[in-house]
Amino acid sequence: MTRPQSFSAGAPSKLILFGEHAVVYGHAAVAVPLAEPCALATAGLTQAGVPVTVALEDFKLTWSRGEEPAASELRPFARLVESLVKTGRVPDNGWALAVRSAVPIGCGLGSGAAVAAASLRAVYGLFGVSRSDADLSADVYEVERLLHGSPSGVDNTVIAHGRPVLFKKGSPPKFLPAPARALRLAVADTGWRHKTAEVVSDVAQRRREAPGLCDGIFEEIGSLAAEGARAFESGDHRRLGVLMDENQGLLVRLGVSSGSLDHLVGAARAAGALGAKLCGAGKGGCMAALAESGEHALRVARALEEEGAKRVFVARVGVAEGMACRERKD
Ligand code: MEV
Repeated sequence: MTRPQSFSAGAPSKLILFGEHAVVYGHAAVAVPLAEPCALATAGLTQAGVPVTVALEDFKLTWSRGEEPAASELRPFARLVESLVKTGRVPDNGWALAVRSAVPIGCGLGSGAAVAAASLRAVYGLFGVSRSDADLSADVYEVERLLHGSPSGVDNTVIAHGRPVLFKKGSPPKFLPAPARALRLAVADTGWRHKTAEVVSDVAQRRREAPGLCDGIFEEIGSLAAEGARAFESGDHRRLGVLMDENQGLLVRLGVSSGSLDHLVGAARAAGALGAKLCGAGKGGCMAALAESGEHALRVARALEEEGAKRVFVARVGVAEGMACRERKD
């Protein structure tokens, strides 16, 4: 079999419907892949002996193996290349990686895991390395761990598999069957950035100060996630919306919402959303609102824009969406 000269691959972004933060402490979370925005990567052969290079097309930045990364955006990719080469699965020279991503960074949509999954998938595809989705998920987790300390594993799981999942740390992921009805969501970016590791560490500090309160909140969020998974499967969107609102209330009590998140959540509800909550670590980043239909999602999205959202995505969540952007050989 001839080896391709280049291999392009993609990975979805993700939305946590229920369970952020509680998932770090072993409770359940429900996460879904989003086909848009997504990350795309192309790996190509260069000349034998030429150092590996990485080009971040969105930032017009390049890095060549052996050099100190010239910008912070390049650092994760330098780590990714080093750890990839260390596994011995791919050569340590003679290839290049180009990455593009529409997933906003530090926004709760899993940008780090999405670019890592797309990059690894492209490089593995180029060199014919066979890795299952579960292997890819483990590889992305390792990259995330290098960069962010100890993530729960929910982001790499939903993004590498590209399927809705009921996730609990330490247990095999339970992939959710196709929902009876696809979800229509408006996802809005507050424009405020956070560092997931910092928010997770703030929550850990809060838990040290008030363990009973925080553990109680985590427990309740975990129960909401379990019920949310059932409502997702059965297509009970009204119940899903109510549970999202309850989850938001608990995240507010945990101290991870923010003025702009609360404002957009309120605006979505005023526009008739079935439920709305922040997504990801919080303290900025994105929120998501569940709409009754595709047309209603557009109306909610417009309301969110009018109320100051910096960017709004309209998403459809079934089962196939996360599989939409995967592989292409050239
Ligand atoms: C990040 O997408 C979600 C958090 O629960 C952190 C984690 O699960 O590692 C805040």
